[in-house]
This record gives sequence, structure tokens and C-alpha cells, in this order.
Amino acid sequence: MTVTPATTAPPPSVSGHPDVLVIGGGVIGLVTAWRAAGRGLTVALADPAPGGGATYVAAGMLAAVTELHYGEQTLLGLNLVSARRYPRFAEELEEASGQRIGYRRCGTLAVALDADDRAHLRELHALQVRSGLDSQWLTGRECRRLEPILAPGVRGGLRVDGDHQADPRRLASALLTACERAGVVFHRSRAERLMVDGGRASGARLADGTRVPAGQTVLAAGSHSGRLAGVPEELRSLVRPVKGQVLRLRLPDVPPGSPAFLSRTVRAVVRGNPLYLVPRENGELVVGATSEELGWDTTVTAGGVYELLRDAHELVPGITELPLVESCAGLRPGSPDNAPLLGPAELPGLHLATGHFRNGVLLTPVTGEAMAEVLATGSLPEEARPFTPARFSPTPERLGGTPVTAPGTERPRFLEEQSV
Ligand code: GLY
Repeated sequence: MTVTPATTAPPPSVSGHPDVLVIGGGVIGLVTAWRAAGRGLTVALADPAPGGGATYVAAGMLAAVTELHYGEQTLLGLNLVSARRYPRFAEELEEASGQRIGYRRCGTLAVALDADDRAHLRELHALQVRSGLDSQWLTGRECRRLEPILAPGVRGGLRVDGDHQADPRRLASALLTACERAGVVFHRSRAERLMVDGGRASGARLADGTRVPAGQTVLAAGSHSGRLAGVPEELRSLVRPVKGQVLRLRLPDVPPGSPAFLSRTVRAVVRGNPLYLVPRENGELVVGATSEELGWDTTVTAGGVYELLRDAHELVPGITELPLVESCAGLRPGSPDNAPLLGPAELPGLHLATGHFRNGVLLTPVTGEAMAEVLATGSLPEEARPFTPARFSPTPERLGGTPVTAPGTERPRFLEEQSV
């Protein structure tokens, strides 16, 4: 009798059984993995290219005060907590990785170019003052005294000495090294399907066929978080992509003792478009960013580059002399209320660390600590509790979530703490 060999594919390989599988290797996934490993949990992380995605494009402004928006007072509380933790976080991470993360206490100047911008900045200033934040109104002349390269037409501005910067690419590289040193296992493959067993998330199957069963699974895939097969329906539309195009220019070398081209982050709203220029220690000047709701498109367009350079030229005419070294586009993970989704989903065993929208780099320290705490103890720290995914559920009490406060109705306790 002839035996026909079976033609079915070999069974997928199974990799370990970590306590935690993190899906996504941007700064949020990496910090979650690093902090969870620091709590004694065994951790694996799946991402084909850790440090890519929105992390690779981001400018890295830590702009809790200058990016304050009406109705986002609860988010402001979390942003301030994270901003305050940055110095210690940077020190700890730099020690763990042996790498610098470009944390620079440079402050920010937000300027106005015309009467409309000026009125808008005045309103922002009033909101900042009402919120107990440190922000000083300057005349155009005072702005130019601080940054002489600014256009003569600058009409006034806000000096915010507490809004600093970090370099997202260096931050990701340092987190990657710190994770490796802490024993995090990396799977350089895309998570394809969330595995669910007996009504509980139980890891993921990867595009290379590997199955990674895990005690707890963290979805930290930025704007792609809702696209993972097997993710519960109610979570699929919570995160949407918001495209940002960003340019990188090279700053001129200045002789020692001479003033820098720009000494701090400068930002403005030009014709309704937010614009920022972030000068880095390493000689890079980041110019960003467009904000476009175009689905998954990450094309760098002539129009996007033109608008950024046109607006930046109005703010700093000398910018056109600088070498343009890079243009790129990424997708911010937008959420319905612009605030992150942190902690347990309704599906047992599944956690979210996504939806950080414009604040991923700023919220990296507080997210890592909050996620490690909930993974290790089952309980979120107080500052993270308003941000559980349960706030979008019809019955938020079930998961202990608190709906995000209605616009302007709450003064968060964090504001009573020392200001940034
Ligand atoms: N936080 C800056 C941006 O999202 O463009």
C-alpha cells in the first residue's frame, strides 16, 4: 500500500510564554516593555521595525503648556505629570542604555505673525493663566530679543520656559537597548491576529507564523491598533490615523560663544496651520507639521513641503539658506477625545497603550509607569485612571473607568502640584 505524505503546512512555531506580549515597538510599546520587565515580568515585543512609525517622524516637543487646547484639562493633568517626570526618566534611561535621548531643557516661544494670530495667542495665554500654568506674554520686540532670527513682523508671543524637547529617534534607540538589557525578547515580525482563548486575550499570531502565547497582551500599535485581526469590535474605530509631514534641515555651525540660529523651540499658527521649529543639540532643525485626515496615506507631497517651508519662511526668513536633509510623513494615533487609551480593555487579558495623538513622546514616562503598574498589580495609578478605554464604553463603571471631564469643567488635582 502506498502512503501519501500529508501536504498540510507544518504547525506554526510557538515562542515561549511571556507574562506580557507588547504589540508595537514605537516609544509607547518600548517603554511599556522596559518598565514591565523592570517589575520582574517576562516580556516579549512584536514589531517588524521597532522605533519606526510615528516615533521616527515625531519632532519630540514636550509641549504640555503651548499645546493646551480648550476642553482638554484632564489631558493637561496627565501631560504635566509626565513633563515633570522627564528629567528623572531621562537620567534613568540614559543610565540603563548608555545612550543620550536628546532631552533638552530649551523652553518654547509661541509667536504671532498677524492680528488674528495675536488674538488667538492672547486667548491661549488667558487659558494657560486660568489653568495655573507658567507662561509670559512678550511684545514682538521682546520675542526678537530672545530669538533675533525671527521675522521683523512678529507681533508678540508667549514665553514658556517649561516646554522642552527630546529626540524621539534617540529615545527609541535608548529604549530598545534598555529593553534588550532587561531581557525583553523581540520578534521582528508584524502581529497579525490577537489570539483569544476561553474569552481571554492570550497573545498573538505573527506574520512569520510564530504564535506568542502570553499571560497579558498590550496593544500599543499606534494608529494601526484597531487593525489587528481579532481585536474586539468596540475598539476597532477608537484610534484613527492623522497624517503629519515633517522636514529636517541642517543648522549652520556657529563659532563658540556666538548665538545659536535658534536657541529654543519656536512655534506659531500661520493661516490656521500649526507650525513649529525644533532646534536639536545635534544640529538638526525639525520643521513640522501638517495635520491631515487622509487614512493610511503617508506620501510626502509637494504641497505639504511647500506649505511648511512657506510658513517657516514667514516666521524665520533665514530658513531658506539651510540644507534640507529629509522629508517624511507619519501617522499620529488620534483618539475621539485626543487623549490616550491606557489600561484594561473589556476583554480580559487585553490592555491598551495607544491613542496618544500629539503627545506620544511627552507621555512616554507616565505611560511606561502606568502600564507597568497595571500589568504587575492589576491596578492603574491614579493619574492614569481617567484614560482607560472604558470611558468610551456605554457602562464605564464596569471597568472602573471615569469618563473624561466635559470641556473646562474640572480643575485636575495635578494642577495643584508644583508647576512644570
Ligand atoms: N505634537 C506635535 C504634532 O503632533 O505635530
